[in-house]
Amino acid sequence: MASLLFLTTLSILSQVSKAVPTRNTTRPCVNLNLSLPVTANNSIYDIPRVDNSIDAVDYAWDLDRWTAPNPADRVTGVKDVHETFTISAQLCVPQHSEKAEILQIATHGFGFDKRYWDSEVHPEQYSYVDAALAAGYSILTYDRLGTGHSDKPDAYEIVQVPVEVEILKELILLARSGTLAGESRSPSGIIQVPEFEKTVLVGHSFGSGLTIAVLAGYPDIVDGAVSTGLIPNAEFGAAGQRSFGLEYAPVSEPRRFGDRGSGYLVQGTESSVQQIFFKKGFFESEMLAYAEQIKETGTAGEFVSFATALGRPAALYSGPILFALGQYDFGTCLGECPGTYDLAALKNETFPGAADVSVHVQPGSGHALTMHSNATGHYEAIFAYLGEHGL
Ligand SMILES: *[C@@H]1O[C@H](CO)[C@@H](O)[C@H](O)[C@H]1NC(C)=O
Ligand SMILES: *[C@@H]1O[C@H](CO)[C@@H](O)[C@H](O)[C@H]1NC(C)=O
Ligand SMILES: *[C@@H]1O[C@H](CO)[C@@H](O)[C@H](O)[C@H]1NC(C)=O
Ligand SMILES: *[C@@H]1O[C@H](CO)[C@@H](O)[C@H](O)[C@H]1NC(C)=O
Ligand SMILES: *[C@@H]1O[C@H](CO)[C@@H](O)[C@H](O)[C@H]1NC(C)=O
Repeated sequence: MASLLFLTTLSILSQVSKAVPTRNTTRPCVNLNLSLPVTANNSIYDIPRVDNSIDAVDYAWDLDRWTAPNPADRVTGVKDVHETFTISAQLCVPQHSEKAEILQIATHGFGFDKRYWDSEVHPEQYSYVDAALAAGYSILTYDRLGTGHSDKPDAYEIVQVPVEVEILKELILLARSGTLAGESRSPSGIIQVPEFEKTVLVGHSFGSGLTIAVLAGYPDIVDGAVSTGLIPNAEFGAAGQRSFGLEYAPVSEPRRFGDRGSGYLVQGTESSVQQIFFKKGFFESEMLAYAEQIKETGTAGEFVSFATALGRPAALYSGPILFALGQYDFGTCLGECPGTYDLAALKNETFPGAADVSVHVQPGSGHALTMHSNATGHYEAIFAYLGEHGL
């Protein structure tokens, strides 16, 4: 009996490790549960509740129908948030690098958690974290509020853009304060964490929106920024909620998302994930399967508050910013990025004080740039840009 149980356990373990390969534990990385006190002005929105998948599909109808009010006109009150949230993060620090004092803080978008930046499948071809380490940078990735191993509070009034902007700000302040510096125990042994002197924000999609909002609200604590999968004012706009194939997360996959309450949404199928994130001809089917396997939730409050992230110019931000876009990005450019954006207006109006505003269009990539075949080519372009600007 005991040996039968043992064998069963072993075979389950080997199935699990086949499905998700274990990461290289000799990396100079530590996992952190960070307790972050947050004060923010969220909004109370007049939006329908989502308690089943019929509600979820109708939520997209409610936001995308041509007669829908602007999100700003749905605000019925202010929601003061004073709370401490637990955020799950991973900090990686190259042990012999002159650039280790430059910390990249990467914020993932909708549909993922921090693994978006750190593929367990063929990491040498897809992991942004490994590429950043190899290029000499320290890098912090984290699960945004409501995803992965971070807290999952109320989907309507708490998990919104203003709170998530404050969380990113708190992460930056924590890193810049020197609190993380010193010796840290990683699975590979003790690693040295320096005092970080410069902070570079890297975002994807919704996470780029949060990044740009931090540049507008807290311009002095960021030295460089890279917005991937998002450029403000794209002429044809982003794909709407109707393109996501959203379902009510706890019902869609009770095993994975049973810990989430009313208003938590997830893409229902692998095809829905492909629609927003992938371009045929430029990805391995294994990566689409992986994206589905690690997919994560977003909230009703995030979708309706997203526009507030880009609501005001980053007039006082003086560092460089690169928009690194996939040529065929459906999520943010409705399928083709070249020709959709107005770089001169971005320079004049949105980032008038920036040291530089540039665009890199990555050939052969969809919205999930870390999961397309030439992901490392995209990373090299990003690191080259940062290097040119002293970062
Ligand atoms: C694991 O990471 C270390 C340090 O980055 C590297 O030297 C080693 O080659 C990696 N091993 C594998 C199997 O990828
Ligand atoms: C973070 O908290 C979770 C849940 O309590 C726990 O399982 C995990 O081991 C913690 N991780 C670290 C690095 O402390
Ligand atoms: C929230 O609003 C109050 C009153 O308008 C303002 O003083 C405060 O700075 C705001 N807080 C944040 C984090 O924006
Ligand atoms: C941006 O400003 C420059 C210099 O003031 C001006 O020549 C140009 O027309 C402006 N472009 C736009 C799009 O506003
Ligand atoms: C990969 O991306 C880089 C950077 O954009 C580009 O220079 C290179 O031509 C790309 N390679 C292929 C095979 O598309």
